[in-house]
Order: sequence, then structure tokens, then C-alpha cells
Amino acid sequence: MTASSLTVTDNRTGKSYEIPITNGAIRAMDLRQMRTGPEDFGLLAYDPAFTNTASCISRITEIDGDRGILRYRGYPIEELAERSNYLEVAYLILNGELPTIAQMDEWVYEVTHHTWVHENVKKFMDGFHHDAHAMGMLCSAVAALSTFYPEAKNGGDPGTRKLQIVRLVAKMPTLAAFAYRHSLGMPYAYPDNDLSYTGNFLNMLFKTTEVKYQPNATLERALEVLFILHADHEQNCSTNAVRSVGSSQVDPYCALAGGVAALYGPLHGGANEAVLRMLAEIGSKDHVPAFIKEVKSGKDKLMGFGHRVYKNYDPRATIIKRMADEVFEVTRPNPLLPIALELERIALQDDYFVSRKLYPNVDFYSGLIYQAMGFPVEMFPVLFAIPRTSGWLAQWQEMRNDPEQKIARPRQLYLGAGKRSYVEIGKRDEESGTDG
Ligand code: ACO
Repeated sequence: MTASSLTVTDNRTGKSYEIPITNGAIRAMDLRQMRTGPEDFGLLAYDPAFTNTASCISRITEIDGDRGILRYRGYPIEELAERSNYLEVAYLILNGELPTIAQMDEWVYEVTHHTWVHENVKKFMDGFHHDAHAMGMLCSAVAALSTFYPEAKNGGDPGTRKLQIVRLVAKMPTLAAFAYRHSLGMPYAYPDNDLSYTGNFLNMLFKTTEVKYQPNATLERALEVLFILHADHEQNCSTNAVRSVGSSQVDPYCALAGGVAALYGPLHGGANEAVLRMLAEIGSKDHVPAFIKEVKSGKDKLMGFGHRVYKNYDPRATIIKRMADEVFEVTRPNPLLPIALELERIALQDDYFVSRKLYPNVDFYSGLIYQAMGFPVEMFPVLFAIPRTSGWLAQWQEMRNDPEQKIARPRQLYLGAGKRSYVEIGKRDEESGTDG
């Protein structure tokens, strides 16, 4: 018997099994051998919401939720936020190593020269209602890119794959900015190749009559840091969606549209939008204790708090909170900030939150910065989707390269009706719908 194994006795049969433990996990397929007889399918692991199931082996992002640690390819998030920029981090996430000067120059050149979208994109953007949610527009636009690049279906070819990765990282800000300008009824602003990734994004969003748009350096850097913090977060809901959709070998545009859709929900990337709506509803610092009472009674949720993995302060929230003051010096203080600070102060002392290990997550403070920068709340999840594109693509690529991965297809425990015969419509019992 090896030390790294689990000995299990199936009390239904009295049989014992030795199951190997590798990297701290057992293989769920090793349970299948445990059967009560030839008719028995074999033991399954039941894990709705994947709370204790590893779906892949990954070498991209490491999170230690108890200690509040986040690292991309081994580099602490704090160092990257302080010293790097978004495109360098995207390169790191996608390729595994920080780039050399030549590699970085080539990567920046490639991304900068793929920011334009086909003119027809403007036509379907125009088809959206004036009040369409920006995330719905982005989700549809990403999926629609698939129709412009039919060769993207060939995801098995490394060259084709690399080109789609460049295109997606480059075009996501353009699609997002077009969605924003559409909602305002403003003409679309084209990319400016002289500007940085975030500077150009600000240009496409906010340029009006000036000949050359000059982004504010503090806001450009703040966006850069926010993009770094959002670049990847291992097997979260949207990444799992990208991997799952991508496992059918569909092209990456459609796989990423699945990721954008998952991110849109209020329990995931839509939480930053929900936080701002919550703060506005609370309205003043004095109303915070009453709101906390509502949360504790289960009537409300404290949006921007809690996380499946972090049972400590989310390290991204620490960085964002620190950065908020720098941004507010350029913009003006967000009047909702005192409410957020009071919520955090009370929650971190309250046994309800302490005992459940509920701490601020990345979305608690990011919305306050976005709002101060002039973004409407509908754009908040979009500002999450742009940088997460590099993470989704890195995870998609890792999945495509992993010989162990197959089409994602969970099992179920069927507890529905057993076999029964069809009853003609006139002969069904009124209440049960069955033969009376
Ligand atoms: N406010 C109040 N209570 C909460 C909150 C919250 N924000 N989050 C969790 N709880 C409570 C739950 O009611 C539960 O209490 P119980 O044990 O008495 O039933 C306990 O804490 C555990 O919570 P779960 O819902 O089981 O935790 P789970 O890991 O499934 O959910 C999630 C994590 C979805 C993030 C949750 O904390 C939540 O809804 N938070 C608010 C939404 C949010 O901020 N989402 C953004 C997450 S970060 C991201 O996706 C980028």
C-alpha cells in the first residue's frame, strides 16, 4: 500500500478499495469501480456547483483563499499591479513567462494593429435598442466576430489559435467602446495607434471634438492596474463556462461569448454594478446599520462581499481601495465612498460576517472608481470582461493543449419519474395530469 492513497470500505458490500491520491486529489473515475452488483452503474461523486471538484490541472493562476494570496504564473498580484502593465501581464498569462523586450515589442505591435473591427460591426451595433445593456451588446458582438473569421474553427492549429488570441485581446476594447457610444447615440471613435492599450480605450470611449485625445495619465494608469487585477482568476464561473463551451471545440469567439454571458450575472462580474445600485439605495451612512440588519435577516445580500474561494480579504480589493484615493484626487470623491467604508467597518466587526468569513471582494470598491471616472453602471461588468479576455484565452488554450481534457459533460443523479405510459390528452386526470 502506498502512503499517498485512500483506503475505502464500501459498507454496502464490505469490499475495500485502495484509491491513489495525486496532487492532493483522488480521481472521481476511481469511484466507479465501487458497485453493488453487475446492474449497478458504479459510485458517482455528487458536487453541485463544483464546490470540491477540480475540473482541470492548470499552471496559470494560483489562489490561496485562506491567506488572501493571488499569483499569475507565480508572480504576486501586488508586484504586477505595482510594476507591470496590462499587456505585459496578458503576455505572461498567455505564454507562461514575462516577455523579453523584443517579444513585448512584437506583442504590443500585434495587438495595436488588430484593434479595428469590420465596418459591418457598426451595423449590428446600430440594431440594438438605445437602452440595451452594454454587456448584452458585448456578448452578442463577441459571438458575431466568429462569423468574420471562419478559419477560427481550426482551433487545433497553433498559428490560427495565436491569431485569434491577438484579435480578441485587441478588439474587445473596441467592441466595448462601440457599445458605450451606441448607448449615448454618439458616433463611434476609431482606435488611435499612438496610445497605450488603456489610453486608446479611453480615447474610443470619451473622444469628442478634439483632434487628438490625450488620456489623463492617472486615470490611464488606474485603468491599467484595474485591468491587471481582473486578468485571470482560475476556475471561476465565467472561466469554467469558456472551458466548458470551448471543450466542444467551437471557435474561441463563441467560447468567449459564453464567458461574457456568465460574467454578466450579479453573482459574478455583474456584482460591481449591483454594489453601486445597493450603495445608492442605502443612500446615507446613517442607513447602514438598518441595511446590515436586513442582510442578516436574509432579506438582502451585501453585494461585493463574500467569495467562494477567498475566506480572507480579497487581495485585489486591498489594492483597489488604496488606489481609490489617487483617482478621487483627479476626479472628485465619490459621494458613495463613505457608505461603502461604513458598510465594511460594521461588517468586519459583526459576527454574522466574521463567522462566515465574508470579506470585501474585488467588486466592492472597483465600481466606485469606475463611477468617478465617468462610467455608467452598465459599463462596469464590461470593464471586467475586457481584461478577463486574456485569462479566458489562456485557460481556453491550456484546455485545448491538455491531452486529458475531453468534451465537458457532467453526470446527474436522476430522481424523476420511473417508466410510465403516454396518456391521451382527453383522458388525463385534471390535477395530476395522469390517467385518473
Ligand atoms: N451577503 C450576505 N450573506 C452572504 C453573502 C453576502 N454577500 N455571501 C455569502 N453569504 C452567506 C450565505 O447566505 C451563507 O450563509 P448560511 O451559511 O447562513 O446559509 C454563507 O454566507 C455562505 O455563502 P454561500 O452562498 O454558500 O457561498 P458561495 O461560495 O456559494 O457564494 C458568492 C459566493 C456567490 C460570491 C456569495 O458570497 C455572494 O453572493 N456574494 C455577493 C455577490 C458578489 O459580490 N459576487 C462577486 C463575487 S467576486 C467575482 O465573481 C468577481
